[in-house]
Parts: sequence; structure tokens; C-alpha cells
Amino acid sequence: MSSPRRVCALLLAAGAGRRAGGPKQFRRAGGKSLLEHAARGLLAGGEIESLVVVVPESDVDAVRHELERIHLPHLHAVVAGGATRHLSSRRGVEALPEGCDWVLIHDAARPFASRSLIRRVLRAAEEHRAAIPAIPVHDSTVRVGRDGRVEEYLPRPSLRSVQTPQAFERGLLEDSFRRVDSEDFTDDASVVVAAGHPVFVVAGEHENRKLTTGEEVDEALGQLTRRG
Ligand code: CTP
Ligand code: MG
Repeated sequence: MSSPRRVCALLLAAGAGRRAGGPKQFRRAGGKSLLEHAARGLLAGGEIESLVVVVPESDVDAVRHELERIHLPHLHAVVAGGATRHLSSRRGVEALPEGCDWVLIHDAARPFASRSLIRRVLRAAEEHRAAIPAIPVHDSTVRVGRDGRVEEYLPRPSLRSVQTPQAFERGLLEDSFRRVDSEDFTDDASVVVAAGHPVFVVAGEHENRKLTTGEEVDEALGQLTRRG
């Protein structure tokens, strides 16, 4: 492995949670918000030296106060996000401290990322400059036209569902964000790919699902409560 790494992390929690009936990142289980569960999960492996948390503008002060009150380790900043995930990600990248050469970007909506998954993504990024976790797709997958007609069956063996955390060499990520301009990217690796850089895939985990609907959030809160 290469010289001492300095890894910063961005935790994206600036969404409105429309499909969950409200901002799911602030729902609580076992005395902690989902945001805190996700943050502690990221920090658990001891790889992250600095964390930037991105939240809705109206929540910045309250979240900063709360994370300071609980002495969340390695907290560098709490900053306001934007109207889309990608704009929130940009705001977070701008707030990264100097000196970290690697950036791990994670959704607060995925509180179950394991330490080994995080380690795997970071190791692959060290080797390939950009790495993402992904899992195989089990269902047949089609592209549907506007008229509701199936246009194409997609080749399942080569398809993957992409997860976070995603890890990047900082310079590569910043270069991609400078060169590619669109607000609609649903993750960060797609920006890096659009900028023409290779991104490497490692095995994701089914447990590391994204909580999208109210039902998924309720089920996860139950699991987190039982876990303590
Ligand atoms: N996110 C963000 N800023 C946005 C939109 C999303 O930081 N403007 C974050 C969310 O807080 C979440 C992650 O990106 O942790 C993935 O987004 P998603 O699951 O779509 O969450 P929401 O955007 O909150 O939900 P919805 O799309 O249903 O409104
Ligand atoms: Mg969203």
C-alpha cells in the first residue's frame, strides 16, 4: 500500500425525503438519528480523519449544535446542501479541509455500510483512483419507451446496482466536478465517468441498501433499535 493516506468523508443528508414522507435523515432509533447512525458507521473503521456533513440550509445550525453536543469525532463542518444530490455533493466538496487526498462520499440514507465494505472501497480507490460498491441485479431488467413498450432487455450478467460509499482521489473528483456540469447526477461516480475517467467496481452488500420509502425507513429504524 502507498504512503499514509489522508481520507476525508462527506455525508450527504440534505434531501427532502419526499418518497419517505419527510426528511428521513432526522428520524431516530435507539436515541440516535439516521444521520448519526450513518456518520458513526463511516467513522467506525478509524480511516476517516475529517467529516463534512451536508444538510438542508434550514437545519445547518441545529445539526451542528447537535453533532457538537454529542462530540461526534472528526467533525470538520456542517454545511448547507443544494436542490439536488449533486449540488449538495458540490457544496460538500468545496467545504473539505486542506490536506486530505482521498474523499469518501456517502448517503445518510444508507446507515448499514459495514467497516469491511468501507475498507474495500478505499483500498480499491487507492489502486484505481475511483471506486464504487455495487451488487448484481437479480431481476430481468428492461428499458421501456414512453409508450410503455419494452424497447430492450438489458444484459443482466453485466448489470450492477450502485451503492455508496464511493471513494475518489480528491484531485480526480475535483477535476471531474469542474469539467462536467449538470445538476442531475444521482451519484458521484457518474460525474467521474462523464468526465472520462475510469471507475472501478468492488462488491457491495445487500445489507447496505438505500432507505427510500417510509416503509423501508420504518423497517430500518426497527433494526437499528434492536441493534442498540
Ligand atoms: N441528498 C442531498 N441533497 C439533495 C438530495 C439528496 O444531500 N438535494 C441526499 C439525501 O439526504 C440522501 C442521499 O442524498 O442521503 C440519497 O438521496 P435520496 O435517497 O433520493 O433522498 P432524498 O432526496 O431525501 O429523498 P427523495 O428523493 O425521496 O426526496
Ligand atoms: Mg432524492
